Amino acid sequence: MKISVTINGRAREMEVDGSTSLLHALRAAGFWSVKHGCETGDCGACAVLLDGRLVNSCALPVAQVEGRRILTTEGLGELAAQGWKATAGLHPLQDAFVEVGAIQCGYCTPAMLLAAKELLDQKGYIPEGKPLPLTDDEVREALSGVLCRCTGYLKPVQAVLRAAARMRGEEPPPLEARPIPVDLRPSAGMAGRGQPGTPSGDGGMQPVLTQTLPTLHIAPQAAAYRSVGQPAPKVDGLKLVQGKPAFADDLELRGMLVAKVLHSPVAHARIKRIDVDRARRVRGVAAVLTYKDLPRVVYSTAGQSDPIPGALDTFSLDSKVRFVGDRVAFVAAETEEIANEALRMIDVEFEELPAVLDPRQAMEPNAPRIHDESEYVNFGESDPARNLAAHLDIRIGDLGKGFAEAERIFEAEYTVPKVQQVSIEPHAVVTYWDEDDRLVIRTSTQVPFHVRRILAPVLNLPPKRIRVIKPRIGGGFGGKQEVLIEDVAAHLTIATGRPVRCEYTRDEEFVSARSRHPMRVRMRTGVKADGTLTANEMYVLSDTGAYGCHGLTVTGNTGHKAMALYVGDGPYRQSPNIHFYADVVYTNTAPSGAYRGYGVPQGFFPVEVHMERIAHALGMDPLAFRLKNALRAGELHPFSTAWSEGRQPRPEYIQTCALEACAREGAKAIEWNRKRGNAQWKASGGAAHLRRGVGAALVMQGTAIPYLDMGGASLKINDDGSFNMLVGATDLGTGSDTVLAQMAAEVLGCAVEDVIVYSSDTDFTPFDKGAYASSTTYVSGAAVVKAAHEVAGQLRAVASEAWGEKGPPVEPGEIRLEQGAAVAPDGRHLTLTDIALRSLHHTNQRQIMAVASFMSPVSPPPFAAQFAEVLVDTETGEVRVERLVMAVDSGVIVNPLNASGQVEGGMTQALGYAVCEEMRYDDRGRPLVRDLRDYHIFAANEMPDLTTIFVETFEPSHPFGVKAVAEIPMDGVAPAVANAIHDAIGAWVTEIPATPERVWRAMRTKT
Ligand code: FES
Ligand code: FES
Repeated sequence: MKISVTINGRAREMEVDGSTSLLHALRAAGFWSVKHGCETGDCGACAVLLDGRLVNSCALPVAQVEGRRILTTEGLGELAAQGWKATAGLHPLQDAFVEVGAIQCGYCTPAMLLAAKELLDQKGYIPEGKPLPLTDDEVREALSGVLCRCTGYLKPVQAVLRAAARMRGEEPPPLEARPIPVDLRPSAGMAGRGQPGTPSGDGGMQPVLTQTLPTLHIAPQAAAYRSVGQPAPKVDGLKLVQGKPAFADDLELRGMLVAKVLHSPVAHARIKRIDVDRARRVRGVAAVLTYKDLPRVVYSTAGQSDPIPGALDTFSLDSKVRFVGDRVAFVAAETEEIANEALRMIDVEFEELPAVLDPRQAMEPNAPRIHDESEYVNFGESDPARNLAAHLDIRIGDLGKGFAEAERIFEAEYTVPKVQQVSIEPHAVVTYWDEDDRLVIRTSTQVPFHVRRILAPVLNLPPKRIRVIKPRIGGGFGGKQEVLIEDVAAHLTIATGRPVRCEYTRDEEFVSARSRHPMRVRMRTGVKADGTLTANEMYVLSDTGAYGCHGLTVTGNTGHKAMALYVGDGPYRQSPNIHFYADVVYTNTAPSGAYRGYGVPQGFFPVEVHMERIAHALGMDPLAFRLKNALRAGELHPFSTAWSEGRQPRPEYIQTCALEACAREGAKAIEWNRKRGNAQWKASGGAAHLRRGVGAALVMQGTAIPYLDMGGASLKINDDGSFNMLVGATDLGTGSDTVLAQMAAEVLGCAVEDVIVYSSDTDFTPFDKGAYASSTTYVSGAAVVKAAHEVAGQLRAVASEAWGEKGPPVEPGEIRLEQGAAVAPDGRHLTLTDIALRSLHHTNQRQIMAVASFMSPVSPPPFAAQFAEVLVDTETGEVRVERLVMAVDSGVIVNPLNASGQVEGGMTQALGYAVCEEMRYDDRGRPLVRDLRDYHIFAANEMPDLTTIFVETFEPSHPFGVKAVAEIPMDGVAPAVANAIHDAIGAWVTEIPATPERVWRAMRTKT
């Protein structure tokens, strides 16, 4: 049918199938800003303004918009400078979103902008209108229909308030440093020891308080930096606020087919018979593939370096299915509807096998065997005959002696759930043959180079005939550190010779993608009466699901980070007694995998609740007890000589640690001393059945994998003195492109916007292991700094050569690079443009460029103190988290906007882990949670108050003193909330999420 609509002010006629959704019609017409994250009306990513009202376009048949006005983000505003043509420019909302760092991955941003626009319009922010001031609550309510998994909403709300202020003619305060003085002397009664963790060789530490208006009080070594430490806007911010076609799926190719996967309805079965004839005969179907059509190549979907530290146990398609959601067949068709019809036509006869859903039962001698394929390749102690994907046993010191010396021993069990990453952009990939018969894979991946290496044998292509392009990614959080659907599209492109698009629905994300490993954890800890820890033991039963992807390394990390924090005091500091052991078990459930934090949140929930319980039993202040036993600067990382992801472990010493300062600053911010144990404050909830409480947790992470993670960068100058910087590093919305540009600009003395970043493409950018293990700023950043120094040397050489021709010679080493120019000691200037023109066109011509790479021998841990304030309803068990405060030592903060956004977003994701997120299954392994209605993630109007504090140290192993920030915010929220619940009601929550039912039960059974 033909419909007439006005889109972004222009009348259009559209030829559409009336039953198709407005979302699909708009994207088919090239309005790529309209995103999709669920297509069930739950995420809001597809929102547009219809006659000025916000609607979810996925829920509206296009026939219903006949004669109406539609506004998409393409119509909101555009960059003013368009060559010789000037436009009206960006909308103040778009400007403000870029300015305050309200964008991370940017996938939800177009819809957020439109939600905010609706509010502004209603409040009189229109021509001739009388705009009314807005409140924080009003903005949160307006944004509440658009889910964001990255930001924690604080900065988007602030962006709307700033834009509104400007539209009222007011000028909001500038984004500038607001130093908060911090007393770095040891606090009496907290640590009970001498000097706080003053880092060796770092010259001291300074606080940085970052809220929306970031305040930067830099470490002394960073005081002279010009770009590093600044709240630079994201280098990709402008394209994201304009809704440009930046994501994997924002692409139309002639003849492109749609791929769909037939998933198993049963948990464990052999495919006895599969008949695809009827499906192949459906008009518009281009290919149907089963296991009979594909080469049988065993591999691992875990996107990790070579050799993959885990068993090889997966096939693209197999004659056996191992979980509800496993793959049975692939279809490629002209449209999604035809592909779905073809799926229904596939006739499969399953021979059902007994399924095992519980990891304990999976370890029993007669448990059904999940992997019996002859091609299975073991790694370490994997043993498919026992359903064992991996086994770990790490012993440090003498545990028996430690327990013998203990005066009290505490034992308890804890349970952490299976939860999902829920990036708002689902997995999406487009594949096609290029004109050189090379297979191009454009995919939403965190690991483009691993995708190429891992898929090559699976596709029977040499890596050199594969090109992987990573466009912008709409969030990954580890879920895209998996080679999940790239092979589906690639096999179908090989089969048909045509471009293929494959994208998971939200249902498929829940049923068939990866998740966080659920674990059962047993803790056993020995202490002396004075609170000295003498022995600490953790056993983990980790459920990897049907495939072992990341099972060994995730679970190893659970011990490697969470059990490393507490070494004990006195002589135990030099010789701690720690035992960590784990079984990683196959079950017939959806595979677990990498998820931000990578095993560490699973470890810190038991460790930090356990520490709180011990402190409580000993009558000690929980922070003082922790700090008495916690790792300090100058000490050996206890696990560094015991385990390194299956590689040779080497000793690593902690160079920087501001844990005590973090604890003190966080405690101050949440008013720990006033609230903790204060009966009056606890009863101030407004009713007798509402009780308040505060809780804390200390945590640490790592920064990259030592002697393994490597990143490369190349830089070349252009005629105008700008630079192209190519990095294999994979910005998945974290802002890494921006911080890498800031580091290059720092060395080159140019503006950040003169560094044009391109990431990443296996044909053009240098190798990088990808975005995981909190490594990009540290590893890829150091590669950028090395390349930039080489380029800087070449710039100085050209300037020296030029000055030497006409005046007194200047040694290159004497030349400074600043404000876009080379500057001689006598004041002579040569702009970078002059240098570029000279070297490219005029004299002694050559391309100024360099490539460098970096691999770290160490993994300096960031540290943090997490605090939570809760209100508990003692009648229902309902928990409302009212405030989260996190004080973080992540080394020097390169971009306080980005870094605080990471902390705010991470705390928000961790809050879901603490109180509401959980993937549940029935007794036949069928998922009970399949959409964003049943799987609740926090919306803007449900958020607690968030406070981020950075306590800078200068990590000497990095040229700019940085450590990681991306993952540590996941680690401490759940235990801090559980400890706050105990403070409020005196009951211990040992299983998360802390649902009303669990809290209510804990109250009834408390001892
Ligand atoms: S609400 Fe429409 S795609 Fe999620
Ligand atoms: S920035 Fe909102 S989903 Fe990523």
